[in-house]
Amino acid sequence: MVQKINNKKSFSLKFDLLTGLSPGAISKKRLLSDMKGMYYDKDAYEKIVVEKDAVVYEFYDLNINPNPENLSFGTTILYPGKVGDEYYMTKGHFHDELNTAEIYYCLRGFGYLLMEDQQGRTEIQEFKPSISVYVPPGFAHRSINTSNDEPLITFFVYRADAGHDYKTIEEKGFRKLIIEKGGQPTIIDNPKWNIQKTRR
Ligand SMILES: [Fe+2]
Repeated sequence: MVQKINNKKSFSLKFDLLTGLSPGAISKKRLLSDMKGMYYDKDAYEKIVVEKDAVVYEFYDLNINPNPENLSFGTTILYPGKVGDEYYMTKGHFHDELNTAEIYYCLRGFGYLLMEDQQGRTEIQEFKPSISVYVPPGFAHRSINTSNDEPLITFFVYRADAGHDYKTIEEKGFRKLIIEKGGQPTIIDNPKWNIQKTRR
């Protein structure tokens, strides 16, 4: 969808419950090679990205006019996989308009929504089908797929003018990570958090 969608007309859009994909819109894809510096095990990342540059996740940006009275929405499809012992995840972002919330609704799969505010407070909510999660204003948010074989599909809604600040997370990371330990999702402190260097 190239044209901006205004808020003067209603419309509907299908998102498939099994795949999360929409036949009426074009998704944006994030490959492993787009995630450089985001996984804590650098060696595992370099190895896997050379072997096979897979799609980690895809999502929709419906190009809705970025006015505070509008809402933007879509799905994120986060595929199963790991880099070392760290599950596939989205990059995660703050909103440019920091004081804006977001709603997620899990359609399929299992995982977590990891949230963190600028003061370092961490919130973690579990995703499983039928569970909705409220992201409070001011919290960066990242989805993590802990399933071995199933995509994590979530539907999201946020204020259309919220904007995305990916850079802060790309440079600093989250304070916490969720990795697989002994076959179980485990929350750990990010050993690389706050390393002040450009990771691109
Ligand atoms: Fe968001």
